[in-house]
Amino acid sequence: MKVQIPRGTQDILPEEVSIWQRIEEKVRTIAERYGYHEIRTPIFEHTEVFSRGVGETTDIVQKEMYTFTDRGGRSLTLRPEGTAAVVRSYVENKMFGYPNQPVKLYYFGPMFRYERPQSGRFRQFVQFGVEALGSSDPAIDAEVIALAMDIYREMGLKNLQLVINSLGDTESRLSYREALVRHFRPVIGELCEDCQKRLGQNPLRILDCKQDREHPAMKEAPSIIDFLNGPSKEYFEKVLHYLDLLGIPYRIDPNLVRGLDYYNHTAFEIMSTEEGFGAITSLCGGGRYNGLVEDFGGPETPGIGFAFSIERLIAAMRKEKVVEEGGRPLDVFLVSQDGKARDYLVKLLYDLRRMGLSADMDYMGRKMKAQFKQADRLQAKLAIIIGEEEMEKKRATVKNMEDGTQTEVPFAELQEYLKGIGGR
Ligand code: HAM
Repeated sequence: MKVQIPRGTQDILPEEVSIWQRIEEKVRTIAERYGYHEIRTPIFEHTEVFSRGVGETTDIVQKEMYTFTDRGGRSLTLRPEGTAAVVRSYVENKMFGYPNQPVKLYYFGPMFRYERPQSGRFRQFVQFGVEALGSSDPAIDAEVIALAMDIYREMGLKNLQLVINSLGDTESRLSYREALVRHFRPVIGELCEDCQKRLGQNPLRILDCKQDREHPAMKEAPSIIDFLNGPSKEYFEKVLHYLDLLGIPYRIDPNLVRGLDYYNHTAFEIMSTEEGFGAITSLCGGGRYNGLVEDFGGPETPGIGFAFSIERLIAAMRKEKVVEEGGRPLDVFLVSQDGKARDYLVKLLYDLRRMGLSADMDYMGRKMKAQFKQADRLQAKLAIIIGEEEMEKKRATVKNMEDGTQTEVPFAELQEYLKGIGGR
């Protein structure tokens, strides 16, 4: 049997996993610093969580979901994104009743979309996302954006641009919707079949069409900014005010609509401006979704969040050459010889690991020289050599692999000697 990995998925091999782990650790630390706590929801949900949550007319729901029927005849879907699932959980677990408001959550995990794979676009990808539920203070919009920008900055990325827009409240969007219908109706025959459907169902999605992107009517389309009513304008100005206050630069893009239906007011993306980054420059996307909690049967609750994929983050880090490659160093490598010494080493290895040190030894019958090479490859801090001679003297030779110096340490003192050297 010869089986290959499915298109759009990837194996993350041990050499690369250390980069992922470092990112995960840092991202969690920063999220906790901002007062966000982790939530874990299932990999699959009832299909309507996403079809209704993300929006029936979005590409995600119409073309990209991995939906299947389980043995009980239920329609389930591998999650294409995290927000709808988090909101489902928020309502189901009555988090609106928590004494601590707003409820600030973050998540990490694989998402699934049947998209055309290309650089930066996978069918399984890992998102980190945050959701702040319960506050409509524009300062929290700025907090969420600041958190995303901080993560990227701490990862070493410099060439970024925050692009922001407001989609306004329901009233603003309704008048914008009418304007879009007026604008596109005369040329709708020239647009793709999907757009023809979108005109009646959700004309905003026309602006998001990948096929008709170059049609002149797209460029001349009315801009949402001109349809914002007073309160929506005021809200947007306050968000921008807080971003100014935090010194976070942005570019307002009135054409930024985002590909999910639940957004209103603030919508934003963080793009890589690194030259030659590739066709897909959007690293992170998010926005406000007041109303989504009610759609799931909860009380009126505002919400805002963002998500980014680790795959695109790593791609940007590689492009800006800020990836720390390489695995984690090993504390101790035990260099062994045949005979009695080996029994001693097997037991010592077990004891060192139980002390909390990372330790390893040779299992391939390598000669001494090759064992030292192996210790180097594993970036061992120390090599401990125990052969016939050491067994007789009951003293181990401890070699510092960084500077090459050697010390003799009596067996009885070995564990004490090693206590300070690290561990994980
Ligand atoms: P989204 O824009 O669909 O928003 O995705 C957010 C991010 O996920 C993208 O900016 C990108 O980094 C990553 N991403 C999306 N699709 C792929 C893919 N096929 N391959 C690799 N990375 C991908 C959402 O998912 C919203 N739930 C974000 C949000 C949270 N809004 C409010 N709260």
